[in-house]
Amino acid sequence: MNKNRTSESNSESLNPLQHRTILLGVSGGIAAYKACDLASMLRRAGAEVHAVLTPNAKEFVTPLSLMTMTRNTVHCSQFSFDGQWRPEHIELAKKADLVLIAPATADLLAKLANGICDDLLTTMVLATRAQVMLAPAMNPQMLEHPATQNNLAILQNRYRYEIIPSEIGEVACGDWGAGKMASLETIMATVGARLSSHRTLNGRQLLVTAGGTREPIDPVRFIGNRSSGKMGIAMADAAHARGADVTLVSTVEVDRPYPVILVETAFEMQEAVETEFDNCDALVMTAAVADFRPISVSEQKIKKTESEDIVLELTKNPDILDLLGRVKRKDQIIIGFAAESEALFTHATEKLRRKNLDVIVGNDITVPDIGFGSDDNAVIILTVDGGRENLSRMPKRAIAEHLCDILLGRFTALESPKVTK
Ligand code: CTP
Repeated sequence: MNKNRTSESNSESLNPLQHRTILLGVSGGIAAYKACDLASMLRRAGAEVHAVLTPNAKEFVTPLSLMTMTRNTVHCSQFSFDGQWRPEHIELAKKADLVLIAPATADLLAKLANGICDDLLTTMVLATRAQVMLAPAMNPQMLEHPATQNNLAILQNRYRYEIIPSEIGEVACGDWGAGKMASLETIMATVGARLSSHRTLNGRQLLVTAGGTREPIDPVRFIGNRSSGKMGIAMADAAHARGADVTLVSTVEVDRPYPVILVETAFEMQEAVETEFDNCDALVMTAAVADFRPISVSEQKIKKTESEDIVLELTKNPDILDLLGRVKRKDQIIIGFAAESEALFTHATEKLRRKNLDVIVGNDITVPDIGFGSDDNAVIILTVDGGRENLSRMPKRAIAEHLCDILLGRFTALESPKVTK
């Protein structure tokens, strides 16, 4: 663990909002008038706040008020032109540590539950990888309606958005019941708790690999595989959001706020991983490394006129995980992956032991629509101490969050004093 980060970590644990970027979404209900106070409280707690208003929210609160409270430009339109080729709101969605929508109307919940993005706020929610928190506020009958309850269940259980429950009381229209937006104090406390619990990998050095290696045949051709890199990138994003110092070694080019080392071949990946390994607390090896490469690479493009058949002679690549499993220290954790087309449990167990891993994540590549290239996967997770879990189909980001929890548990276990009999 990097000792230099300790004092920074301490101040962050005392005030989890310090230096965090919060997108404050405001939708069009009467409780929107409270958004100005909320923005001010978040900013005074040290957060960098960017407000995003739906068109209806502007009927209740003005962009000028929110701009004054956040001290930042307020975003209202999907189509505003800010002179940048990359729209600023997508950049904001990417760099946000948390998206907080207060108030969240019944209409907004319905849109989010169905992936509708017909305004700036809903578009940003789809574009972000940050935790989304919603503080619903509406008439009690609207909240009780099965459609709203169904939408809340989808948002909470399927998308893992955090709902800050509304309170019981007299609502603006004079009705009594559940539907009042949670108090600003409750919202502040929930945001603080989420940001501090979300940084539980704070100060950990995480090395993640992603994508499939390409082994050149000649200047234009290569041997590749179907890996999209999505699992590794989801893992790196999840760990980064929880405060880990992430380094991603990837065959896929991505623009991220953490270091990304772009590689192509198994040899390049080996070199990058070996260089970084000593400094890491955990290695998560999601990459699909080619097991074989052509013995020789033609300097010139191989011409089809040269012969009817060509024979490619292949030789074995180094097994990066196997090599690192042999040299890993007791305080390091290695998570490997196993892509199998048969006998998943048997092969994954064998790789877990042979490569001296702490955890292996296995998936059956014959199941259609998941795994390679998909945003979802279904996996088994086996641990060296005999643990076994089956995760049914879910987004790769949700699998990554689960792996972060596993890492957390293992880091804690490594630090607890051993009981001697
Ligand atoms: N791996 C590696 N270096 C290789 C091959 C694989 O580091 N040359 C890593 C992968 O990143 C993955 C794990 O080993 O975390 C298992 O990869 P997989 O392709 O499932 O298994 P292999 O060990 O290559 O065995 P096989 O292809 O025979 O199933």
